[in-house]
Amino acid sequence: MPNVLGEKDGSDAFNFKISRFWPHLAIPNSCSVKHALPMKRSIRPLFGFLLVVVFVATLGCRTIVRRGLLSIELESRVLVHVPTPPLLNATLLKYAAVDIGEEKTKQEIQQLLDGNFGSQARHRTFVSWRRFIHHDITDKDSRRLPTTIRSPLFYRYWLDFRKVLNDWARKKRFQPGIMSDLTRLLKIPIDRHNGLVGSNHRRYSSCAVVGNSGILLNRDYGELIDSHEAVIRLNNARVEKFQKKVGSKTSISFVNSNILHLCARRAECYCHPYGANVPIVMYICQPAHFLDYTVCNSSHKAPLLVTDPRFDVLCGRIVKYYSLKRFVEETGKALEEWSSAHDGALFHYSSGMQAVMLALGICDRVSIFGFGKSASARHHYHTNQKAELHLHDYEAEYAFYHDLVDGHRAIPFLSDKFKIPPVVLYH
Ligand SMILES: *[C@@H]1O[C@H](CO)[C@@H](O)[C@H](O)[C@H]1NC(C)=O
Ligand SMILES: *[C@@H]1O[C@H](CO)[C@@H](O)[C@H](O)[C@H]1NC(C)=O
Repeated sequence: MPNVLGEKDGSDAFNFKISRFWPHLAIPNSCSVKHALPMKRSIRPLFGFLLVVVFVATLGCRTIVRRGLLSIELESRVLVHVPTPPLLNATLLKYAAVDIGEEKTKQEIQQLLDGNFGSQARHRTFVSWRRFIHHDITDKDSRRLPTTIRSPLFYRYWLDFRKVLNDWARKKRFQPGIMSDLTRLLKIPIDRHNGLVGSNHRRYSSCAVVGNSGILLNRDYGELIDSHEAVIRLNNARVEKFQKKVGSKTSISFVNSNILHLCARRAECYCHPYGANVPIVMYICQPAHFLDYTVCNSSHKAPLLVTDPRFDVLCGRIVKYYSLKRFVEETGKALEEWSSAHDGALFHYSSGMQAVMLALGICDRVSIFGFGKSASARHHYHTNQKAELHLHDYEAEYAFYHDLVDGHRAIPFLSDKFKIPPVVLYH
């Protein structure tokens, strides 16, 4: 159970506080006992008895006073210490910080920059990209691809692609302060698109992050969801025919780059089930998807924003910490075995997790809908997909959301300076 260790950590911290304050509180009490004892010897037996009664009564009062003092003292200390989170496990932090797939990704990026599209997956992306451009210029006949490669449009895209990929790769590192930059990086461009020029660094007053779990069908949250200032939806899950359950308003469409890769085959990369004006925020699953990005970015009217790689790294570490913790606690196995159990190099946070993180950065209040599962509910409200994807650890992510809702637990890798807004999880 993920929460057990957390609770233990919390109570340890609490006990530690009491023992630290105990000496202060004990001093006046033990002093008064020392003063009472010599007095007792010099007085006659009858009065001695009375004195004992008084003494016991006094002790009783003192105990009450002491308890009162203790709780006042503790209360003020606890208030002062709220920002100091319960301890995180240093071993887990160390393991979670290691990116197993890093070397492989670096090689992949270098190959792409060199124009080497060796592996099959990347080749497929490349071919569909060429076909798209080809389609744009002349016709769909892919047998005539070689001429496409020499086309000026292709060449321009090629340069753009190399530039964005290179910038992205260079920025990719751990920097927890990125959370405080999300408003500037993502909300301000969206505000500008919506004609809100003077909004500066104001966050959304409230946000609903709408996951795609089938549990949404159990309730009618549509109106409640739409009452938030901003509504973030995931991976183009459709809302038609589900408005009563999931609402109809969309402020940000959050997707992974696989979704855009599929959209890239359509005319003008159409990828807007919520309307052509809705901005898209996308994280990159494979560096090769920057091919789709360069082509689609210029044909989209609304912003197509790629998440900062430092934000991606942060999300990756947080989820990995929770996954490692769960693995060790539930299987009793060694941390080293986590990788083979979770396909280490492919392990990834889900789109929902990063959308929640985004909301933490750009909203004053966050409501989470459609996350979680139940035996009776479908995996997705809008599809018949049965199984969950193996490369995600949804249970670990739920543990993370519960810590957010709790509001007092330390979240690994987040900087102390970043204030987590209140989070409510709707079941
Ligand atoms: C941290 O986690 C590791 C691995 O689960 C465990 O062996 C170790 O005892 C934990 N340390 C503390 C201080 O809880
Ligand atoms: C994407 O398109 C927008 C609007 O056309 C443009 O301002 C921006 O520079 C483009 N981004 C890249 C990386 O080319």
